[in-house]
Amino acid sequence: MKVTVVGAGAVGASCAEYIAIKNFASEVVILDIKEGFAEGKAMDLMQCASLNGFDTKITGVTNDYSKTADSDICVITSGIPRKPGMTREELIGINAGIVKDVSTSLLEHSPNMILIVVSNPMDTMTYLAHKATGMPKNRIIGMGGALDSARFKYRLAEALGAPISDVDGMVIGGHSDVGMVPLTSHATRNSIKVSEFLSEERLEQVAADTKVGGATLTKLLGTSAWYAPGAAVSGMVQAIACDTKKIFPCSTYLEGEYGLNDICIGVPVVLGKDGIEKIVDIPLSDAEKAHVQASAEGVTKTNGLLNL
Ligand SMILES: NC(=O)c1ccc[n+]([C@@H]2O[C@H](COP(=O)([O-])OP(=O)(O)OC[C@H]3O[C@@H](n4cnc5c(N)ncnc54)[C@H](O)[C@@H]3O)[C@@H](O)[C@H]2O)c1
Repeated sequence: MKVTVVGAGAVGASCAEYIAIKNFASEVVILDIKEGFAEGKAMDLMQCASLNGFDTKITGVTNDYSKTADSDICVITSGIPRKPGMTREELIGINAGIVKDVSTSLLEHSPNMILIVVSNPMDTMTYLAHKATGMPKNRIIGMGGALDSARFKYRLAEALGAPISDVDGMVIGGHSDVGMVPLTSHATRNSIKVSEFLSEERLEQVAADTKVGGATLTKLLGTSAWYAPGAAVSGMVQAIACDTKKIFPCSTYLEGEYGLNDICIGVPVVLGKDGIEKIVDIPLSDAEKAHVQASAEGVTKTNGLLNL
């Protein structure tokens, strides 16, 4: 199993580290445009192998796509992150050009790859990769919901005073501060609906804190977060590599599902060896449906800024 991670920055390196630590891939190639940067990150990570007990071989390359040839899974994290006060949508000008070039270069050398898009604004970048490469829709997956759901579970556990392992919940919709749809009506603590423990007001606060989860960290860190994003990507890569059929909310190209068309946005999917193996249809309340619809309108508006 060969995995390529494009972008050796904060998220790319964290993603490569978690993949290696989980020890399911034989090879991880990190590629960056900055001379020597990916080579340095790869060497540093390889020097963790004996300490952390993994056998995954990590190599770094400067913009040499021939070294990524025949990758099974490729992850795009290249592009600029937001600074405090910025929205993800404001990154489109620079990141669209990067994602278009990177996705087509990857495809040239790995025609059978499954592509995971992380760069922001992620739903629009996933849509762009779809249009730029023409790959089948099951093989292009946007990462946002896996991270947003982890942040939702963190906030739920905090509100419940419960361990995170007791909590389950999911965030669908667009990966943006306004577009996320935390499904509080489906969230549970050890199979009991969280509404049994928390008031409506407290649940609304949990949802609000979840939606600004990225912005909260960007304000604290001065740049966007990387540990949880890297862990979220590595979980998706593992589900595909090990064909686990685990459900994650992922951005995927919709053709009528959830009443939406010609858009990439977060919905629950089954991940396995073929990438997105199934889009899971779950019942939503009227309020959740309206929220998903409004979220889709926002993503479509951002898609309109692309030069396709
Ligand atoms: N989808 C999500 O949930 C999520 C979460 C966190 C961050 N992000 C996004 O991920 C992206 C990366 O964030 P980061 O914090 O790692 O940024 P970073 O600046 O630390 O790293 C980005 C890397 O991309 C490289 N790069 C730029 N252009 C390139 C190109 N054409 N080819 C190869 N490499 C190139 C840069 O040299 C840099 O090393 C940002 O767009 C950020 O908004 C998404």
